[in-house]
Amino acid sequence: MSSSAAIEVSNLGKVYDSVEAVKNLSLTVQHGEIFGLLGPNGAGKSTTLRILITTLNPTTGTATILGHDVVKEADTVRRLIGYVAQERAIDRFLTGREHLLLFAELYHIPKQEALSRIASLLKLVNLEDDADRVAKGYSGGMKRKLDIACGLLPHPKILFLDEPTLGLDVQSRLNIWEHIRQLQQQGITIVITTNYLDEADQLCDRIAIIDRGEIRAMGSPKDLKASLGGDGVWLTLSDATPEILNQLTTALQGLPFVRAIRPRENGLDIRVDGPEKALPSIMETTNTIAGCRLDGIEYHRPRLDDVFVAHTGRSLKDEPPASTET
Ligand SMILES: Nc1ncnc2c1ncn2[C@@H]1O[C@H](COP(=O)(O)OP(=O)(O)OP(=O)(O)O)[C@@H](O)[C@H]1O
Ligand SMILES: [Mg+2]
Repeated sequence: MSSSAAIEVSNLGKVYDSVEAVKNLSLTVQHGEIFGLLGPNGAGKSTTLRILITTLNPTTGTATILGHDVVKEADTVRRLIGYVAQERAIDRFLTGREHLLLFAELYHIPKQEALSRIASLLKLVNLEDDADRVAKGYSGGMKRKLDIACGLLPHPKILFLDEPTLGLDVQSRLNIWEHIRQLQQQGITIVITTNYLDEADQLCDRIAIIDRGEIRAMGSPKDLKASLGGDGVWLTLSDATPEILNQLTTALQGLPFVRAIRPRENGLDIRVDGPEKALPSIMETTNTIAGCRLDGIEYHRPRLDDVFVAHTGRSLKDEPPASTET
């Protein structure tokens, strides 16, 4: 990793009319990273991205791309980046290859150079066989791959992808992830936005959890999960009185592998080091408390959604599903 960062964002803010879409946002993206902005609908992800790609001016704060200010040096920044929008631009009766040629003209890429880049991009995103079909008839995944190829046409050092797999089926999502990883291996720094927990977890090296325009937590998915303080054991009890819960909590607190205990609906959330000793011991302990009747026991490793809940007070899963653009 180079000492100077690929992207530096400092106290960025954006107010639309009366909506404060982004508030005091600061982050750093290192060279070669896949960095994710994870948040629910309306969190401010696209707004942040549009500021970074120079199509929207911030209300406050600054951002630099490879050392260039996104407002003062917008032209330079545009030459360094590629962008794949959340909304698809495919609406004409053009083939996949013709779309790419049109893009090449917009970027003033010489014809011969364009033809050879397009051939290799079609190969990269696995669209060679369908390149000469009208793109309107492509499946959602194929359209997304074409979008990505368009974003890569100018040979960007940094690629911004807004919701790269929104609305796609599982297989297409895995394919797109694989393509994104290949781009990373070619040395491209990648910033994606997503409201999919598994995408953030499995694809991104680091993520910023963003909610209502603010960053709530930042780090690698692994570190963020580890910061929750161990694996979770959820006990559900039938007819548990506050007295029984108190007794049980006191008894469990004495166990060496128990890190923390919090109340949850009809039971307890116990954070432990690992399952092997914890589960049998916890069950034994419940048996020693008079009147304590175990209804259920659930073990889970911390998930990114638990991180989201811990930092925002609600679950990303409770959000209504994102709409699929056409
Ligand atoms: N052009 C605009 N004019 C006014 N308000 C806007 C505009 N664009 C976005 N907003 C508002 O700013 C907030 C953040 O929107 P943004 O599109 O950045 O969210 P997002 O995280 O990308 O959401 P999604 O997951 O739905 O794409 C929302 O409250 C939205 O309504
Ligand atoms: Mg968006």
